[in-house]
Amino acid sequence: MPKQLCIFKVMYKDFYSLKESPFNITADPDFFFASSRHEEAFNHLVYGIRSRRGIIVVTGEIGTGKTTLCRTILSRLDQTVKTALILNPVFSDMQLLQMIINDLGISYVKKTKLDLVGAITLFLIEESAKGNNVVVVIDECQNLNIRQLEQIRLLSNLETEKEKLLQIILVGQPELGEKLKSPSLRQLTQRVSVHYHILPLLKNEIEGYINHRLKIAGADPRLKFTLQAVEAVYAISQGTPRVINILCDRALLAGFAKETFTIDHSLVHESARETQYTYEHH
Ligand SMILES: Nc1ncnc2c1ncn2[C@@H]1O[C@H](COP(=O)(O)OP(=O)(O)OP(=O)(O)O)[C@@H](O)[C@H]1O
Ligand SMILES: [Mg+2]
Repeated sequence: MPKQLCIFKVMYKDFYSLKESPFNITADPDFFFASSRHEEAFNHLVYGIRSRRGIIVVTGEIGTGKTTLCRTILSRLDQTVKTALILNPVFSDMQLLQMIINDLGISYVKKTKLDLVGAITLFLIEESAKGNNVVVVIDECQNLNIRQLEQIRLLSNLETEKEKLLQIILVGQPELGEKLKSPSLRQLTQRVSVHYHILPLLKNEIEGYINHRLKIAGADPRLKFTLQAVEAVYAISQGTPRVINILCDRALLAGFAKETFTIDHSLVHESARETQYTYEHH
């Protein structure tokens, strides 16, 4: 970000009494907004985890909130659920196992693949004996190769007669759904118990989403997006949260430059031009 823009951002936070930036593009669970789709996805996932269903798949287009949803779920599970979150699984299947082990906090000595799987198995059995559940979330799974996906299937095989010892959530862009249709992954696909595809926000949820984020960031109550501004945000973003954030962040900057608490549609359009999000993108 250019230095001048950074300084402006600090100043607009002051001007609107913000504790933090309301429209950051990080996947921060503190800002989670339970839109109809996100809430439904949340419930499906929690159900899948609680009922120990093994493999769960979450797909969605770029920027629809997959990572935010996963972080939110992990932050809300209780102490009896041990979790690991793998954000960038661009490694070999060995390294993937190592990351899972590290994130679950399992200590292990030897380093062959068999040792790693053995260490995970022992951990799962111990946790199960304590009545605990174990969840591994793997993000960006559209980038995994067949070998890694096969390794994941092997992990999910660990079960008692009644339930899976490990719940695995595979998260990715729609290409993941396509990949899972490949005949060589049939064994994995057959084990998928829940598949949820996240869709963008609905038109009538945009205002709630914007106000929710403003409120959490502690915005001055005088700061308002007009109805037409909200409509413009929807028209340009088509409800994709990341695009909404980029637009609204810029609109606040433009509003600050004009020293206004009312963000109208002209400010949104100006932001769309500056961020290169225009109607033509959709
Ligand atoms: N339900 C939600 N509540 C609040 N903010 C959200 C929600 N969903 C998404 N966002 C916001 O939208 C932005 C993009 O979300 P996120 O990074 O989770 O998308 P993604 O689907 O993982 O994207 P990618 O496909 O690029 O990995 C983030 O700033 C996030 O905070
Ligand atoms: Mg993501």
